[in-house]
Amino acid sequence: MKVLISVAVALIFTECVDCYIVNPGPLYVATKGEIWPKPQDQVKSEDYFVITPENFTFLLAENSGNCLILQNAFERYFKILQQNTISQATVRRLKSFRANLTEGSNLGLITNITVNLNGECSDNDYPSLDINETYILNVTLSAVQLASSSIWGILRGLESFSQLLYLGSDGYTVRIRLNSTDIYDYPRYKHRGLLLDTSRHFIPLKQIYQIIDALEYNKMNVFHWHLVDDQSFPFVSQKFPELSQYGAYDPELYVYNTTDVQAVIEYARQRGIRVMPEIDTPGHTRSWGASHPEILTDCSAVQSGALGPLDPTKTETYTFLNDLLSEVRGVFKDAYIHLGGDEVGFECWENNEDIVKYMASNNISTYEDLESYYIQKIINSANSLKFNSIVWEEVFVNGVTLPNDTIVHVWRDYGNFKWVETMKSVTESNKPALLSACWYLDHLQTGGDWQGFYECDPTNFGGNEEEQNLVLGGEACMWTEVVNEYNVVQRIWPRASAPAEKLWSAYVDVSDGFDYTLTAQRLEEHVCRMNRRGIPAQPPNAAGYCL
Ligand SMILES: *[C@@H]1O[C@H](CO)[C@@H](O)[C@H](O)[C@H]1NC(C)=O
Ligand SMILES: *[C@@H]1O[C@H](CO)[C@@H](O)[C@H](O)[C@H]1NC(C)=O
Ligand SMILES: *[C@@H]1O[C@H](CO)[C@@H](O)[C@H](O)[C@H]1NC(C)=O
Ligand SMILES: *[C@@H]1O[C@H](CO)[C@@H](O)[C@H](O)[C@H]1NC(C)=O
Ligand SMILES: *[C@@H]1O[C@H](CO)[C@@H](O)[C@H](O)[C@H]1NC(C)=O
Ligand SMILES: *[C@@H]1O[C@H](CO)[C@@H](O)[C@H](O)[C@H]1NC(C)=O
Ligand SMILES: *[C@@H]1O[C@H](CO)[C@@H](O)[C@H](O)[C@H]1NC(C)=O
Ligand SMILES: *[C@@H]1O[C@H](CO)[C@@H](O)[C@H](O)[C@H]1NC(C)=O
Ligand SMILES: *[C@@H]1O[C@H](CO)[C@@H](O)[C@H](O)[C@H]1NC(C)=O
Repeated sequence: MKVLISVAVALIFTECVDCYIVNPGPLYVATKGEIWPKPQDQVKSEDYFVITPENFTFLLAENSGNCLILQNAFERYFKILQQNTISQATVRRLKSFRANLTEGSNLGLITNITVNLNGECSDNDYPSLDINETYILNVTLSAVQLASSSIWGILRGLESFSQLLYLGSDGYTVRIRLNSTDIYDYPRYKHRGLLLDTSRHFIPLKQIYQIIDALEYNKMNVFHWHLVDDQSFPFVSQKFPELSQYGAYDPELYVYNTTDVQAVIEYARQRGIRVMPEIDTPGHTRSWGASHPEILTDCSAVQSGALGPLDPTKTETYTFLNDLLSEVRGVFKDAYIHLGGDEVGFECWENNEDIVKYMASNNISTYEDLESYYIQKIINSANSLKFNSIVWEEVFVNGVTLPNDTIVHVWRDYGNFKWVETMKSVTESNKPALLSACWYLDHLQTGGDWQGFYECDPTNFGGNEEEQNLVLGGEACMWTEVVNEYNVVQRIWPRASAPAEKLWSAYVDVSDGFDYTLTAQRLEEHVCRMNRRGIPAQPPNAAGYCL
């Protein structure tokens, strides 16, 4: 029997994505109740329990911590549990296909999961870089139990529990099943994020909420909000309303006001996800010029009427930025702000007489030094507002002296592997690092292109243990030049699920000859799961279907 199955598997999983002669049915058959990202430690069994939504409750253990975040999560996951339904007609149809719904042995009905938070939680808890997301989940004959010492671990455990559920049939009725299992799980990295650019195209709140839902389904914990850029300024500042009045694509429709932003932060917080703002300067600020040309560099020597990066020689630049950052501090709850610092073109500074004079009289000899002078002031400004900072790698590469806890975000040169050197030199200099270079979702390949993202590992730069420990995690980046509300969610998911697993699960060597079959099958299931939950994730692999 075993032999027969593996022959069948070998026939189904051919190398090509679209062979000339193909078997009917999907290329990769979805797994049943596999968790994405893969838990660190799981003991599995093929024996299963059955649950019925009308007879299932989420219970708190005696003496368990409790708070609104927990109660809201119970409600959320109860709804998800109810979504596991399928009609008998569908089952009959599927029988003629490759879906085998009749297997395994039934251990009985389960009516509850008992959740034990061995610690406190309060309604106002906000996740941080150092939260503990460890949890233990047991599905046994005597009980289904989830335990963690933190509310964030409980949230991750509830997600895993929800993913254990799959549909099975005894030939007559379809039931929700879950296999007996023991799980001990925790993340490999602390910072597992997604960057969303809302400047190149405006992304409505509806899609932002869907993306945050999916972050929870993938156990990611940072929503990096690249709020503003050259092209538009959709953030409504109360101190400087003119920034979005003149800098947004539409000052009424394509903006996020304080209420909107706070609603997003609250939505994410309930799911154990941090919302980290980015105010990218001194480059990437052209949209600011629509209302505040006086703080941008006059670049008319290069191109008539043009404005360049922020002018680092003017006091009012720093006053303005300090006021804006102080407002951002009041709106966002996160301990970190991303200060950008990428792609600063020096051309405008070089061709501006006032800037050249200022440099001479202040003994600043290179444009890198001028940028350093600027960035250091901004980091200090953020610091005095109680923001820790993150900067793009150029700031480090250009030799800016950074506080020890400033995180360097590595993003360049994926193609020629230079990012490997950058990771090495950042961590060699004792700086914490985040990796994004290999996870740019705007780079498209044909077919299910998640494998390229999966091949990249944050440890690939080969640093020693101390250097490796300085890697805090990474982020998938969704730049939106050719992405808007109509394709943003399907472009991100399930492609960002690949980095999500690399950042949560134990290291897997995917070099030469790694067999992706099971991973592809697990991703089939995960995509169907996201689809069922209302996330329009695109198909991950090739021909297939969802129940
Ligand atoms: C719920 O489970 C209990 C205990 O197993 C059983 O007595 C009861 O009939 C079930 N109710 C439904 C609606 O399945
Ligand atoms: C379905 O699974 C059952 C139990 O494992 C097995 O006996 C049966 O042959 C399978 N049917 C198909 C069509 O593979
Ligand atoms: C659960 O058990 C069924 C058989 O009952 C098996 O087909 C499936 O692969 C198992 N899933 C997991 C995640 O172990
Ligand atoms: C919860 O489920 C366990 C078995 O899984 C059962 O022994 C216990 O009675 C149930 N508790 C309640 C309150 O339903
Ligand atoms: C996280 O909490 C677990 C208990 O749930 C504990 O065993 C573990 O040491 C904690 N991890 C850290 C990094 O504090
Ligand atoms: C629950 O699962 C953990 C982790 O796999 C295991 O160490 C522990 O013994 C299990 N507890 C019970 C009561 O089965
Ligand atoms: C903020 O924008 C929302 C629409 O996204 C609108 O309903 C709300 O009234 C606005 N709030 C304020 C204070 O302008
Ligand atoms: C200017 O800076 C250089 C190093 O960058 C330093 O050697 C020199 O003493 C400085 N001159 C003055 C006048 O500060
Ligand atoms: C920063 O790191 C350096 C070593 O790279 C160390 O000498 C210095 O004491 C650290 N500073 C602080 C404030 O921790």
